[in-house]
Amino acid sequence: MTTIKTNNNRKKVTVSASVLSGDFLAMGDAVRSMVAAGVDSFHLDVMDGHLVPNISFGPVLIQAIRRATSLPLMVHLMIENPGMYLSDYASVGSDLVYLHAEAYQQEPVDVMTIREQARYTTVINTDQLRADLDRARDLGMGAAVVINIHTPIAVIEPILDGCDAVLLMSVDPGFSNQAFMPAVVPKVSALRAVYDGVISVDGGVNADHAPALIAAGATDLISASYLFGASNHGQAIATLRGS
Ligand code: DX5
Ligand code: ZN
Repeated sequence: MTTIKTNNNRKKVTVSASVLSGDFLAMGDAVRSMVAAGVDSFHLDVMDGHLVPNISFGPVLIQAIRRATSLPLMVHLMIENPGMYLSDYASVGSDLVYLHAEAYQQEPVDVMTIREQARYTTVINTDQLRADLDRARDLGMGAAVVINIHTPIAVIEPILDGCDAVLLMSVDPGFSNQAFMPAVVPKVSALRAVYDGVISVDGGVNADHAPALIAAGATDLISASYLFGASNHGQAIATLRGS
Protein backbone atom coordinates (compact mmCIF):
# COMPACT_ATOMS: atom_id res chain seq x y z
CA MET A 1 0.00 0.00 0.00
CA THR A 2 1.25 3.47 -0.86
CA THR A 3 2.26 5.63 2.04
CA ILE A 4 2.06 9.33 1.34
CA LYS A 5 2.96 12.45 3.22
CA THR A 6 0.11 14.70 4.27
CA ASN A 7 0.12 17.65 1.93
CA ASN A 8 -2.75 20.03 2.53
CA ASN A 9 -3.84 21.06 -0.92
CA ARG A 10 -2.41 18.39 -3.13
CA LYS A 11 -5.93 17.42 -4.21
CA LYS A 12 -8.90 19.55 -5.15
CA VAL A 13 -11.39 19.52 -2.30
CA THR A 14 -14.92 18.63 -3.33
CA VAL A 15 -18.15 19.46 -1.55
CA SER A 16 -21.21 17.22 -1.39
CA ALA A 17 -24.66 18.48 -0.37
CA SER A 18 -26.60 16.15 1.93
CA VAL A 19 -30.26 16.56 1.00
CA LEU A 20 -31.39 15.67 4.52
CA SER A 21 -31.58 19.42 5.20
CA GLY A 22 -33.30 20.18 1.87
CA ASP A 23 -36.99 21.04 1.67
CA PHE A 24 -38.69 17.66 1.10
CA LEU A 25 -41.76 19.41 -0.30
CA ALA A 26 -39.65 21.17 -2.93
CA MET A 27 -36.69 18.84 -3.34
CA GLY A 28 -36.30 19.51 -7.05
CA ASP A 29 -35.83 23.23 -6.39
CA ALA A 30 -33.46 22.50 -3.49
CA VAL A 31 -31.31 20.28 -5.70
CA ARG A 32 -31.31 22.70 -8.64
CA SER A 33 -30.31 25.58 -6.41
CA MET A 34 -27.30 23.61 -5.11
CA VAL A 35 -26.33 22.69 -8.66
CA ALA A 36 -26.48 26.36 -9.65
CA ALA A 37 -24.30 27.21 -6.63
CA GLY A 38 -21.59 24.86 -7.89
CA VAL A 39 -21.77 21.85 -5.57
CA ASP A 40 -19.77 18.79 -6.74
CA SER A 41 -22.19 16.00 -5.81
CA PHE A 42 -25.22 15.09 -3.72
CA HIS A 43 -25.18 12.93 -0.59
CA LEU A 44 -28.24 10.78 0.07
CA ASP A 45 -28.71 9.53 3.64
CA VAL A 46 -30.61 6.24 3.63
CA MET A 47 -31.53 5.14 7.20
CA ASP A 48 -33.43 2.02 8.25
CA GLY A 49 -34.09 2.55 11.97
CA HIS A 50 -31.88 -0.46 12.78
CA LEU A 51 -28.29 0.44 11.99
CA VAL A 52 -29.10 3.99 13.12
CA PRO A 53 -31.97 5.31 15.28
CA ASN A 54 -33.87 7.10 12.51
CA ILE A 55 -35.70 6.29 9.28
CA SER A 56 -35.24 8.58 6.29
CA PHE A 57 -35.91 7.54 2.69
CA GLY A 58 -35.04 4.88 0.14
CA PRO A 59 -34.69 4.47 -3.63
CA VAL A 60 -37.86 6.40 -4.54
CA LEU A 61 -36.45 9.78 -3.53
CA ILE A 62 -33.12 9.03 -5.18
CA GLN A 63 -34.93 8.16 -8.40
CA ALA A 64 -36.72 11.53 -8.25
CA ILE A 65 -33.52 13.44 -7.52
CA ARG A 66 -31.84 11.64 -10.43
CA ARG A 67 -34.30 13.46 -12.71
CA ALA A 68 -33.24 16.84 -11.30
CA THR A 69 -29.47 16.61 -11.75
CA SER A 70 -26.73 14.83 -13.63
CA LEU A 71 -24.23 15.39 -10.80
CA PRO A 72 -22.98 12.30 -8.93
CA LEU A 73 -25.42 10.83 -6.40
CA MET A 74 -23.48 9.40 -3.44
CA VAL A 75 -25.68 7.09 -1.37
CA HIS A 76 -24.88 6.66 2.32
CA LEU A 77 -26.45 3.32 3.25
CA MET A 78 -27.10 3.44 7.01
CA ILE A 79 -28.90 0.10 6.85
CA GLU A 80 -28.44 -3.50 7.98
CA ASN A 81 -27.68 -6.04 5.24
CA PRO A 82 -26.76 -3.39 2.65
CA GLY A 83 -25.71 -6.10 0.20
CA MET A 84 -29.38 -7.09 -0.20
CA TYR A 85 -30.26 -3.69 -1.61
CA LEU A 86 -27.36 -2.84 -3.92
CA SER A 87 -29.23 -3.57 -7.14
CA ASP A 88 -32.14 -1.38 -6.00
CA TYR A 89 -29.81 1.59 -5.55
CA ALA A 90 -27.98 0.90 -8.79
CA SER A 91 -31.22 0.77 -10.74
CA VAL A 92 -32.34 4.25 -9.61
CA GLY A 93 -29.12 5.86 -10.83
CA SER A 94 -26.83 5.93 -7.77
CA ASP A 95 -23.21 6.71 -8.68
CA LEU A 96 -21.56 5.45 -5.49
CA VAL A 97 -22.61 3.63 -2.33
CA TYR A 98 -21.02 3.95 1.10
CA LEU A 99 -21.20 0.69 3.07
CA HIS A 100 -20.93 0.93 6.87
CA ALA A 101 -18.34 -1.34 8.46
CA GLU A 102 -20.74 -1.52 11.42
CA ALA A 103 -23.22 -3.40 9.19
CA TYR A 104 -20.59 -6.17 8.92
CA GLN A 105 -19.98 -6.34 12.66
CA GLN A 106 -19.20 -9.75 14.09
CA GLU A 107 -19.61 -8.99 17.79
CA PRO A 108 -23.16 -9.13 19.20
CA VAL A 109 -24.91 -5.76 18.97
CA ASP A 110 -26.38 -4.21 22.07
CA VAL A 111 -29.69 -2.60 21.06
CA MET A 112 -29.14 0.21 23.55
CA THR A 113 -25.97 1.27 21.78
CA ILE A 114 -28.05 1.81 18.64
CA ARG A 115 -30.60 3.92 20.50
CA GLU A 116 -27.79 5.92 22.05
CA GLN A 117 -26.15 6.31 18.65
CA ALA A 118 -22.79 5.19 19.96
CA ARG A 119 -22.46 2.14 17.76
CA TYR A 120 -18.97 1.06 16.85
CA THR A 121 -17.23 -2.12 15.90
CA THR A 122 -13.80 -3.66 16.25
CA VAL A 123 -14.32 -6.94 14.38
CA ILE A 124 -16.00 -7.17 10.98
CA ASN A 125 -16.53 -9.78 8.31
CA THR A 126 -14.05 -8.34 5.81
CA ASP A 127 -14.78 -11.06 3.23
CA GLN A 128 -18.45 -10.12 3.14
CA LEU A 129 -17.70 -6.39 3.00
CA ARG A 130 -15.21 -6.90 0.19
CA ALA A 131 -17.70 -9.05 -1.71
CA ASP A 132 -20.39 -6.35 -1.41
CA LEU A 133 -17.94 -3.63 -2.52
CA ASP A 134 -17.09 -5.75 -5.57
CA ARG A 135 -20.75 -6.35 -6.29
CA ALA A 136 -21.55 -2.64 -6.11
CA ARG A 137 -18.85 -2.07 -8.71
CA ASP A 138 -20.15 -4.90 -10.88
CA LEU A 139 -23.49 -3.09 -10.81
CA GLY A 140 -21.79 0.02 -12.20
CA MET A 141 -21.47 2.05 -9.01
CA GLY A 142 -18.49 3.31 -7.09
CA ALA A 143 -17.97 1.44 -3.83
CA ALA A 144 -16.80 3.09 -0.62
CA VAL A 145 -16.60 2.19 3.04
CA VAL A 146 -17.71 4.32 6.00
CA ILE A 147 -16.94 4.02 9.71
CA ASN A 148 -18.54 5.57 12.75
CA ILE A 149 -16.66 8.00 14.94
CA HIS A 150 -15.81 5.35 17.59
CA THR A 151 -14.81 2.64 15.10
CA PRO A 152 -11.01 2.55 14.66
CA ILE A 153 -9.30 2.90 11.27
CA ALA A 154 -7.60 -0.47 11.84
CA VAL A 155 -10.93 -2.22 11.24
CA ILE A 156 -10.97 -1.20 7.56
CA GLU A 157 -7.24 -1.26 6.80
CA PRO A 158 -7.40 -4.77 5.30
CA ILE A 159 -9.96 -3.68 2.68
CA LEU A 160 -8.66 -0.20 1.75
CA ASP A 161 -7.36 -1.52 -1.56
CA GLY A 162 -10.95 -2.40 -2.48
CA CYS A 163 -12.42 1.05 -1.75
CA ASP A 164 -13.07 3.89 -4.21
CA ALA A 165 -13.29 6.27 -1.23
CA VAL A 166 -13.41 6.18 2.56
CA LEU A 167 -15.92 8.16 4.58
CA LEU A 168 -15.21 9.04 8.20
CA MET A 169 -18.23 10.00 10.28
CA SER A 170 -17.76 13.05 12.50
CA VAL A 171 -21.03 12.49 14.39
CA ASP A 172 -22.91 9.38 15.49
CA PRO A 173 -25.02 8.88 12.36
CA GLY A 174 -28.80 9.23 12.33
CA PHE A 175 -29.54 12.93 12.15
CA SER A 176 -28.35 16.11 10.52
CA ASN A 177 -27.54 19.25 12.48
CA GLN A 178 -25.48 17.55 15.20
CA ALA A 179 -22.27 18.92 16.70
CA PHE A 180 -19.01 18.06 14.92
CA MET A 181 -16.79 15.68 16.91
CA PRO A 182 -13.14 16.88 16.66
CA ALA A 183 -11.87 13.32 17.32
CA VAL A 184 -12.31 12.74 13.58
CA VAL A 185 -9.38 15.04 12.72
CA PRO A 186 -6.58 12.72 13.97
CA LYS A 187 -8.45 9.84 12.30
CA VAL A 188 -8.24 11.68 8.96
CA SER A 189 -4.48 12.12 9.47
CA ALA A 190 -4.01 8.47 10.40
CA LEU A 191 -5.98 7.31 7.37
CA ARG A 192 -4.14 9.69 5.04
CA ALA A 193 -0.86 8.14 6.16
CA VAL A 194 -1.91 4.77 4.70
CA TYR A 195 -4.49 5.64 2.03
CA ASP A 196 -4.05 7.72 -1.10
CA GLY A 197 -7.68 7.86 -2.25
CA VAL A 198 -10.62 10.16 -1.55
CA ILE A 199 -11.24 10.78 2.14
CA SER A 200 -14.70 12.19 2.90
CA VAL A 201 -15.96 13.53 6.22
CA ASP A 202 -19.64 13.66 7.19
CA GLY A 203 -21.42 15.22 10.15
CA GLY A 204 -21.44 18.72 11.60
CA VAL A 205 -18.99 19.98 8.97
CA ASN A 206 -19.00 23.76 8.63
CA ALA A 207 -16.67 26.69 7.98
CA ASP A 208 -15.09 26.37 11.44
CA HIS A 209 -13.93 22.77 10.96
CA ALA A 210 -13.18 22.55 7.23
CA PRO A 211 -9.61 23.97 7.38
CA ALA A 212 -8.46 21.43 9.99
CA LEU A 213 -10.04 18.57 8.04
CA ILE A 214 -8.37 19.65 4.78
CA ALA A 215 -5.03 20.14 6.53
CA ALA A 216 -5.31 16.60 7.91
CA GLY A 217 -5.88 15.22 4.41
CA ALA A 218 -9.64 15.19 3.79
CA THR A 219 -10.52 15.75 0.12
CA ASP A 220 -14.32 15.68 0.20
CA LEU A 221 -16.58 17.47 2.68
CA ILE A 222 -20.24 16.56 3.14
CA SER A 223 -22.72 19.00 4.63
CA ALA A 224 -26.45 19.26 5.16
CA SER A 225 -27.35 21.96 7.69
CA TYR A 226 -24.42 24.31 7.07
CA LEU A 227 -24.90 24.32 3.28
CA PHE A 228 -28.69 24.42 3.12
CA GLY A 229 -28.82 26.91 6.00
CA ALA A 230 -26.42 29.36 4.35
CA SER A 231 -27.94 32.47 2.78
CA ASN A 232 -25.42 32.22 -0.07
CA HIS A 233 -24.93 28.60 -1.12
CA GLY A 234 -22.12 29.38 -3.56
CA GLN A 235 -20.16 31.21 -0.90
CA ALA A 236 -20.71 28.40 1.61
CA ILE A 237 -19.41 25.83 -0.91
CA ALA A 238 -16.34 27.98 -1.64
CA THR A 239 -15.71 28.43 2.09
CA LEU A 240 -15.78 24.68 2.70
CA ARG A 241 -13.40 24.11 -0.21
CA GLY A 242 -11.08 26.73 1.20
CA SER A 243 -11.08 28.62 -2.11
C1 DX5 B 1 -25.81 11.90 9.55
C2 DX5 B 1 -25.78 11.93 8.05
C3 DX5 B 1 -25.14 13.17 7.50
C4 DX5 B 1 -25.96 14.41 7.76
C5 DX5 B 1 -25.07 15.61 7.77
O1 DX5 B 1 -26.30 10.68 9.97
O2 DX5 B 1 -25.07 10.82 7.56
O3 DX5 B 1 -24.88 13.04 6.12
O4 DX5 B 1 -26.96 14.57 6.79
O5 DX5 B 1 -25.79 16.68 8.31
P1 DX5 B 1 -25.03 17.94 8.95
O6 DX5 B 1 -24.08 18.46 7.93
O7 DX5 B 1 -26.16 18.89 9.28
O8 DX5 B 1 -24.36 17.42 10.18
ZN1 ZN C 1 -24.43 10.93 5.50
